[in-house]
Amino acid sequence: MNDKENLKHEQLDAYRVMDKGEALTTNQGLRVEDDEHSLKVSPRGPTIMEDFHFREKMTHFDHERIPERVVHARGFGAHGEFELYESLAAYTKAKFLTDTSIRTPLFVRFSTVAGSRGSSDTVRDVRGFAVKFYTEEGNYDLVGNNMPVFFIQDAVKFPDFIHAVKPEPPNEIPQASSAHDTFWDFVSMNTETAHMIMWVMSGRALPRSFRMMEGFGVHTFRLINEEGKSHFVKFHWKPKLGVHSLVWDETQKIAGKDPDFNRRDLWNAIEQGNYPEFELGVQILNEEDEFNFDFDILDATKLWPEEIVPVRIVGKMTLNRNTDNFFAETEQVAFHVGHLVPGIDFTNDPLLQGRLFSYTDTQLLRLGGPNFPEIPINRPIAPVHNNQRDGMHRMTINQGQTSYHKNSLANNHPTPVPATEGGYRHYEEKVDGRKIKARSNSFDDHFSQASMFWHSMSPIEQSQIVDAFRFELGKVMSKEIRQRVVDVFSQVAEDLAVRIAEGIGATPARGVAAAPTVISPALSMMTSAKTAAT
Ligand code: HEM
Repeated sequence: MNDKENLKHEQLDAYRVMDKGEALTTNQGLRVEDDEHSLKVSPRGPTIMEDFHFREKMTHFDHERIPERVVHARGFGAHGEFELYESLAAYTKAKFLTDTSIRTPLFVRFSTVAGSRGSSDTVRDVRGFAVKFYTEEGNYDLVGNNMPVFFIQDAVKFPDFIHAVKPEPPNEIPQASSAHDTFWDFVSMNTETAHMIMWVMSGRALPRSFRMMEGFGVHTFRLINEEGKSHFVKFHWKPKLGVHSLVWDETQKIAGKDPDFNRRDLWNAIEQGNYPEFELGVQILNEEDEFNFDFDILDATKLWPEEIVPVRIVGKMTLNRNTDNFFAETEQVAFHVGHLVPGIDFTNDPLLQGRLFSYTDTQLLRLGGPNFPEIPINRPIAPVHNNQRDGMHRMTINQGQTSYHKNSLANNHPTPVPATEGGYRHYEEKVDGRKIKARSNSFDDHFSQASMFWHSMSPIEQSQIVDAFRFELGKVMSKEIRQRVVDVFSQVAEDLAVRIAEGIGATPARGVAAAPTVISPALSMMTSAKTAAT
C-alpha cells in the first residue's frame, strides 16, 4: 500500500506543513521583515515592549515543553499498517480482525519505562510496545510491553511501585536504572514481583533493537463474536527478525557512545526501506476453561505457557514510515488500554481495571485538557460525532443549535443519535458478590512461574541473570534489603539464591523453603485445560 491509500496519512496531510523557502510570518500571518534584531530606542538603547514579533517568538519558546509521561517518558514512534492473514470471525466481530482485505493504518511507540525523556536507550528496563490501530470502527490501542507479565497484580499498587522504581527523592539518583535501594526494597516486600524480576534480570531487558523484540498485551482480554459469544485472549507480537539481546557490557559502552542506539536503528531501518515486521499472535481460551489452570488467568504476573495454549499467528504489522515531527506525533500520541472496538472487551484483571482510569487521567494533564483526541496523531479515521463541546484548545467547529440528547429540535438541527446497530456493547458478564478490598487467593502463588523461567534458561543465560542480580544488588546500600532479596529468590530456586548471595556477601538462604525445581510446573498443572486455539 502506498501513502495515497493510507487513510491516516491522507488525514495527516491536512496538517503537514513544509516551511522551506516560505516567507517568515508571525502567528497572525504577518510577514516579518527582520528576525535578527529586536526593536530598540536607538541601536544601543533598550528593547521596547512594542516589539510584538519578539514577544510572540519568545513567549512561544518559553512554552515549548509539556510534561513528559509519568512513566515511559522516553520513546520512539513510527507509522505502519496491519494486514490480516486469516479471519478471526469465529471469535470476534472486530472488522480489522475479520476482513482480510482491509489494511489498517497504525502508529507504534516503543519506550523504556523508568528513565526520563533524555535518558539512554540501552538501559536494563522493560520496553513499552504500544500500537494504535486506526480502524474503520474507531481507534483500537494495544498498549503492551516486551515482557509477557507484570510486576504487580493490582493497579492500586502502581503508584507505590513507580515511586520505588524512579530515582530516589533526595537526589534524583539513579537516573535510569533499577540498581538502588527503593527498587529492591519494593521487590523484597512484594513477592508478586518475582516472576517479572526474572524477566528484567534476563537479556529480554536489553533488546538489541526495537525490531528484534516481542510484544505482549499482558492482560487477558475478551474477544466477542457476532453471536455475542466470548473467548479469552492474550495478544502477542513476534518480530520477523527474531528476538535478539545485547549483553551487559555492550549496553554500557553503547549507552556512552550512542544513547540513541535503539531509536537510531529503527529510524535508519525505515529510511533504508528495511521495514520492520511483527506478526500478531493470539492465544485463545474457551470461557469454560477459565478455572482449568493452577493460576488465575486474571493474574497479570502469570503467562499462559505457549506449549499449553499455542500462539496462533493471524496477521502482520509493517512499520514503513518515519515521523515528520517527533513532538507532533511521538510525543503527543495518547494511547489508552481502554480504546476498544466492537468485538474486543476487558476482563476483571484488577491491574487492567485500574489502567482504564489512569491513561485518560494523565493525558488530561500531559496534553492540556479534554480535547487531546483532536490532536492529529490521535484523531480516528472513523468519523467523530457527539455532543461534547468547548474546553481548552477546541478545534472542531460544531454547527447547529443543539448539543444535547434527546432534543425536540433535532429535525432542524440534527444531533448525533445512538447507533441502534453496530454500536459498542459491553459484554454482559454476570457479576455477583460482596464489595470487598481483597485479592483472590488464586493470586497467591508468586514463585512457580518464576521458577519455571529460571529452569528454562541455558547455563549462559543463567549466568547472565546471576550477574545482573549481583550488579544491581551490589548498588544497594542496605544489607538488610540485599539479604531479603536473596531470601525471596531462594523461593524461586535455591541455586539462584546461593549464586546471588555469593556475589554480594549475603547468606545463601536463611531457612526459607526452596521452591520445587520442576522444569515446567505449569505443564502438569494444565493438562486438563482444553484450548480453543488449535
Ligand atoms: C504509559 C499507567 C501498567 C504499558 C503509561 C502512562 C501511565 C501508565 C500513566 C503514561 C501515559 C501517557 O502519558 O500517555 C499505568 C498503570 C498501570 C500500568 C496505572 C497498572 C496499574 C502497564 C502495563 C503495561 C503498560 C501492564 C503493559 C502491558 C504502557 C506503555 C506506555 C504506558 C507501553 C507508554 C505508552 C506510550 O508509548 O505513549 N502507563 N500503566 N502499562 N504504559 Fe502503563
